[in-house]
Amino acid sequence: ARILVLNGPNLGRLGSREPDVYGNQNLAALKVLLEADAPSHEIDLRQTDSEPELMSWLFEAVDTNTAVILNPAAFTHYSYALRDAAAMVTKAGVPLIEVHISNPHSREEFRHNSVISAVATGVIAGFGFDSYRLALAQLTR
Ligand code: DQA
Repeated sequence: ARILVLNGPNLGRLGSREPDVYGNQNLAALKVLLEADAPSHEIDLRQTDSEPELMSWLFEAVDTNTAVILNPAAFTHYSYALRDAAAMVTKAGVPLIEVHISNPHSREEFRHNSVISAVATGVIAGFGFDSYRLALAQLTR
């Protein structure tokens, strides 16, 4: 089956963005890792800096019954619009796992709250790209 791996703002800059926090691998490398982990699944990995575009992909997940791994990036902390879209996914019975590369709880105060977590199926944070791999393992078990 297909799995949507959706990435929010600034994550297109992975590899060069704050490598001390996010490592030096980019999203293309992440896709290779995930494809190797789940060869019988289609890893549909996308990134956008746009809140409405990210929301439209969650609507697509609902309409096509497609499981989601979501790194909402900074939207995590303040986007009620994204939260409401994420709630549509999980209320439709479609799993949505929130992931973070870093551990937001060990960072600035404003990163400690997620408006997404309460409507996510589960949350994995702090393991670098392995956060995505652990989410994929859960969705494919
Ligand atoms: C992040 C954590 C967020 O606080 C931050 O805004 C990001 C990335 C992570 O993957 O660690 O852009 O979601």
